[in-house]
Amino acid sequence: MAEKKKIHLAFDISYTHLDGRWRMPGSWTGRIYPDLDVYEEIARISERGCIDMLFFGDGTGIPATWGNSRDEAVRWGIGWPRHDMSPVITAMSRVTKHVGFGLTYASTFMHPFYVARLFNSLDHVTNGRIAFNVIASSRGADAANYGFDELMEHGLRYERMEEFIDVCRALWDSVEPDAFVWDRESGLVVADPAKVRAIDHAGKFFKVRGPLNCVPSPQRHPILIQAGSSPRGIKASAYISDHVFARWPSKEGKAKHRAQLDKEIVAAGRDPSKIGILWGCGLIVGETKAEAEARREQLLTMIPEKAVGPYLSHNSGYDFSKLPERFSLTELNAEITKKNASPVGFVYKLAQTLGGNAEISRKDFFEHALRTATNYDRTYADTPAKLADMLEEEFEAGGSRGGFMVVHPQAVPRELLNVVDLLVPELQRRGRFRKSYEGKTLRDNLAE
Ligand SMILES: Cc1cc2nc3c(=O)[nH]c(=O)nc-3n(C[C@H](O)[C@H](O)[C@H](O)COP(=O)(O)O)c2cc1C
Repeated sequence: MAEKKKIHLAFDISYTHLDGRWRMPGSWTGRIYPDLDVYEEIARISERGCIDMLFFGDGTGIPATWGNSRDEAVRWGIGWPRHDMSPVITAMSRVTKHVGFGLTYASTFMHPFYVARLFNSLDHVTNGRIAFNVIASSRGADAANYGFDELMEHGLRYERMEEFIDVCRALWDSVEPDAFVWDRESGLVVADPAKVRAIDHAGKFFKVRGPLNCVPSPQRHPILIQAGSSPRGIKASAYISDHVFARWPSKEGKAKHRAQLDKEIVAAGRDPSKIGILWGCGLIVGETKAEAEARREQLLTMIPEKAVGPYLSHNSGYDFSKLPERFSLTELNAEITKKNASPVGFVYKLAQTLGGNAEISRKDFFEHALRTATNYDRTYADTPAKLADMLEEEFEAGGSRGGFMVVHPQAVPRELLNVVDLLVPELQRRGRFRKSYEGKTLRDNLAE
């Protein structure tokens, strides 16, 4: 019998201290963000469970879209504080050997020379275990810190992202892997200067001469990840990604996303069998179903009522504070799209769930918003065996390439420990998950 395709598992730790999670039962007590020891401990636990990658999403603004004020977000720790996690990854990599690290920057705001150079260095420091999650960002507060009064137009953000990655790739290839000789006797560092080349990039958004002034790194290119879910976003994913992130649609939705992506991958001249999707899923693993479900209910107490609107407005790039008592979701989504935020965000999905041109009251809207903000609707709470059944089915529905990213864990370390000590052994028993790391780099491990 053919060996079962392995499932890959990543774990998102960007939200552990945000949006009320820091005080949920099962989270660390007496250890305050950004305590480095906590991150080192997370890295050790993950490696014990042979997890592929720890992941840091990012945002660089304090939410201020709601009523044009940041006060509620500041009060309740919504979307902030957030540090640049690149030095933290350095520390985590020093206490582990195998687990990979994903780090996020926005191509809309950053410069590709800086980012290419940073990831080259991180690839050295981690010994080939770094991934770059490139985002466009649809958050006004982030854009405002980089000189924008409004969000850059949606299609243009992706055009810039593709050029950004072109520049990074050219820079990572601008020095041949065998260029450096470091000959002690003669003093020669690079014997053949032709192995170090300018890139002379002059495009619509960037002008970069190159070469990158660095030693080629173990993976040469970091693993590239992208999470766009609109048609234009999926096209960018196909052009850019080694692995794609996607949210958690139905089984049919997964098959559709996979088919759309595969079509775009082929159009980009790449091989769809090599590019996995990591489906973002909320998991609460319990020894019993009742225990897991009770913990899931706690999610609804995580974000104070006053902070739900600020959370959602920030993440949707639209001010929901002035919504009338009743309104049409389809019309609201058209408004959101006009503001250049994502056309396929929360409101679009809610309209799809509730059907067609659904009207909704303000009160009901914010009830749904709470369930989204806490990830309640997309969190599966069950025993390891039941969750493993579900993951196997969903994995196959999505094309059996890639795996899952456990997103927005309710409480860390509890959620991570339960994945590592309960779910991973179950998947291992089924031949679906590695028992030890085989590759040397993150790229090798994700290709297993
Ligand atoms: C698993 C996952 C992780 C994401 N991480 C981030 C992030 O860290 N920061 C961010 O601003 N957006 C993040 N996003 C949002 C995407 O970058 C993107 O804006 C969103 O999927 C909308 O796609 P679209 O612009 O193609 O409509 C993430 C999306 C997914 C599915």
